[in-house]
Amino acid sequence: MAASRPPQVQELLAEARRAFREEFGAEPELAVSAPGRVNLIGEHTDYNQGLVLPMALELVTLLVGSPRTDGLVSLLTTSKDADEPQRLQFPLPTVHRSLEPGTPRWANYVKGVIQHYPDSGAIAARAQVCQRAEHSFAGVPCGIMDQLIALLGQKGHALLIDCRSLETSLVPLSDPKLAVLITNSNVRHSLGSSEYPLRRRQCEEVARALGKESLREVRLEELEAGRELVSKEGFRRARHVVGEIRRTAQAAAALSRGDYKAFGRLMVESHYSLRDDYEVSCSELDQLVEAALSVPGVYGSRMTGGGFGGCTVTLLEASAASRTMQHIQEQYSGTATFYLSQAADGAKVLCL
Ligand code: GLA
Repeated sequence: MAASRPPQVQELLAEARRAFREEFGAEPELAVSAPGRVNLIGEHTDYNQGLVLPMALELVTLLVGSPRTDGLVSLLTTSKDADEPQRLQFPLPTVHRSLEPGTPRWANYVKGVIQHYPDSGAIAARAQVCQRAEHSFAGVPCGIMDQLIALLGQKGHALLIDCRSLETSLVPLSDPKLAVLITNSNVRHSLGSSEYPLRRRQCEEVARALGKESLREVRLEELEAGRELVSKEGFRRARHVVGEIRRTAQAAAALSRGDYKAFGRLMVESHYSLRDDYEVSCSELDQLVEAALSVPGVYGSRMTGGGFGGCTVTLLEASAASRTMQHIQEQYSGTATFYLSQAADGAKVLCL
């Protein structure tokens, strides 16, 4: 069984240039690409000032463009999901008039970045601008993981991010005998959009009740000792976060010394904690994880990202990839899509 082949950057670039030429009657002057990401471990820890360990993917979003002088922004997207290319035009924001989120929703990310861009500075500040765009224009109170890995990812490496200090360190991930398999459940439960902000609020409430700035400052023993100060649910949410931050530090160390078995065990602990304490998994993701774990050669598997659908990530021997995909597909009640990706580079300007 084969994984889907992501479109190559050069193919996407040729397609984007053609669409630009047809729309604007000239060649674009600039092209940039930004990667997708998969989080290996450290889930729902970023907005708790914790640790995360994502890697950038070979799947990219590509953007071509040219400056214009009339104060307008013209956008054209050729998303594979839409039958027709979609367009939008709006004036640049001024000190007197800000951009506002609206429809079409895909344009909100672009508008948000344009609106907040004047506040950007160094790399970490650029990631923060993109995070603000997601908060205020896409309405998701996300952490900083996605934006930092998209900017700082490096080929052949995962990135350990300390979301409190914004310090990052590269962890080599290029052993040819190892593979990272991403399995898309192809389900997305609408619950996710309301549960994410709720989880964030619950974590902040627990930290406050324990007199701490964030759950990053809380040790497991302190949480146990303060059990009476928080709700039962809040306690379980915090137990996930506190344990997950520790697991992430341990997993980064395990990966650095090539101990894939230890890494895999931590992934599985992470999944069960997300399922039972944080309650952001769903039956489809649980099925995918259990199916993967029953295949020899699989080190570990877990849901990845916000939850309530989306993808799982599995660490396995490269030679086991084909039989793992086969087995998952046989066991899964839905239709899964598979991606095998090396750890790739972050956002970059492309040569035209
Ligand atoms: C989403 C958010 C991230 C992070 C994950 C959960 O992907 O965008 O900031 O919180 O959920 O780890």
